Amino acid sequence: MPATPEVKVSTSSSSADQLKTRLENRTAKIGIMGLGYVGLPLALLFSEEKFPVTGFDVDKKKVDTLNTGGSYIYRITTTEIGQARSKGFVATADPSKISEMDTIIICVPTPLNEYREPDLTYIRDTGEMIAPHLRAGQLVVLESTTYPGTTEEILVPILERGNKHGLKAASAHNASPLADDKTFYVAFSPEREDPGNDTVARCDIPKVVGGMDATASELAGTMYNSIFRKIVRVSTPAAAEMTKLLENIYRCVNIALVNELKLLSLRMGIDIWEVINAASTKPFGFHPFYPGPGLGGHCIPVDPYYLSWKAKEWDFQTRFIELAGEINTSMPYHVVSSVAGALNKHKKAMNGSKILVLGVAYKKDIDDLRESPALTVIELLQKEGAEVSYNDPYFPTVGKGRHYDLQMTCTPIEKVKEFDCVLIITNHSDYDYEKIVNEAKLVVDTRNATGNIKSPKIVHC
Ligand SMILES: NC(=O)c1ccc[n+]([C@@H]2O[C@H](COP(=O)([O-])OP(=O)(O)OC[C@H]3O[C@@H](n4cnc5c(N)ncnc54)[C@H](O)[C@@H]3O)[C@@H](O)[C@H]2O)c1
Repeated sequence: MPATPEVKVSTSSSSADQLKTRLENRTAKIGIMGLGYVGLPLALLFSEEKFPVTGFDVDKKKVDTLNTGGSYIYRITTTEIGQARSKGFVATADPSKISEMDTIIICVPTPLNEYREPDLTYIRDTGEMIAPHLRAGQLVVLESTTYPGTTEEILVPILERGNKHGLKAASAHNASPLADDKTFYVAFSPEREDPGNDTVARCDIPKVVGGMDATASELAGTMYNSIFRKIVRVSTPAAAEMTKLLENIYRCVNIALVNELKLLSLRMGIDIWEVINAASTKPFGFHPFYPGPGLGGHCIPVDPYYLSWKAKEWDFQTRFIELAGEINTSMPYHVVSSVAGALNKHKKAMNGSKILVLGVAYKKDIDDLRESPALTVIELLQKEGAEVSYNDPYFPTVGKGRHYDLQMTCTPIEKVKEFDCVLIITNHSDYDYEKIVNEAKLVVDTRNATGNIKSPKIVHC
């Protein structure tokens, strides 16, 4: 891919100069820590661009799968893994290899703990793993979504404290430059991928980069410019961290707004989907968001709380975030009472009814269950005494996770007619909705998947 040379050399540091040259001629060794939904695709992108890439993960099973040519992410094929391996990609659980890397990109989870507060355990642990193997001249980039200040206040002190050579991160706050053989470089660059959305190629998503100093920004920009067409430089890691949170809070708040308007529209007998489609024809000032059964995924239900937690340190209450959270988390309850109402109209009680939940992934056409509203809906339906089954082409089974323990097996879609109610939670493209409506006794649709079908069996909620 042609690189857009937006990033210019302005450093006198020789180790940085050397790294920049290696990044430009693609001989720099790229290490990716955390080979999940973000880290593995990133590793493959660098490998495609002919960089020598090493993937690090604490999950030995993932490491073994990759090193034997397998894949554990639905949309990543074994062919892609094979191609990367033929270009030298290897996975390892051995942190001592970190010292061989020129750059280290951290893509580890940033969940919430049981009190819905940021859980930075993975970032801290990764920092502790890197620190003893850190070398002068290396570039460390954090990609995990987190609150502003994490890179400078949490990651950098761990790296500085834990390395054996007294290395320090180059920083714009330093009064005078550090000795070249005592310096490493740090930046934050958020991952902005939208899983399952193939309308924008990954390389066309501009890459935001904020370094601890100008050299760190240049190095990170140069590295990413080999795979992303446009680099957007911001002045600090905190600005880059906040950029990612702004993007996700914008989504969270707007989804809450449209969910609230959906509840009102249902009461008023207005079709919210028709309204959104009409409003979307305005060529400026309106961006459509769609209602649903509640938020899901690793990002939108989680990230806003990273900021509201941090805001408290500044004696600041993030009211939009709290209100949006309140509305979005109430949606699964709305879905369950809609199912009860729909069954009632069929002279059936929820207690004892057989309900088939269609789609458990948190959004369509992906194999990700994290924070999926389907899990909450299933638990709530079960509490009401319903006999709940599910179908999802991406999940043959649903077991136990951070916030759920369901132990269910996928029911074949051919069995639709055996259920009192089919509840569409995730509108996967693979489903034949016309057939499902024809065969089902009752369909409750939370996604407007049946919007083009006219049938008295359908209840939109
Ligand atoms: N999934 C997305 O679509 C998406 C999009 C944008 C941003 N993000 C952010 O990216 C980050 C990573 O998310 P993800 O979806 O890839 O998570 P994931 O759970 O799919 O993958 C994380 C990986 O990190 C590994 N890991 C944990 N601790 C480690 C350590 N100390 N050293 C090495 N590996 C370690 C885990 O074993 C796992 O394989 C999160 O902060 C998330 O918020 C995710």
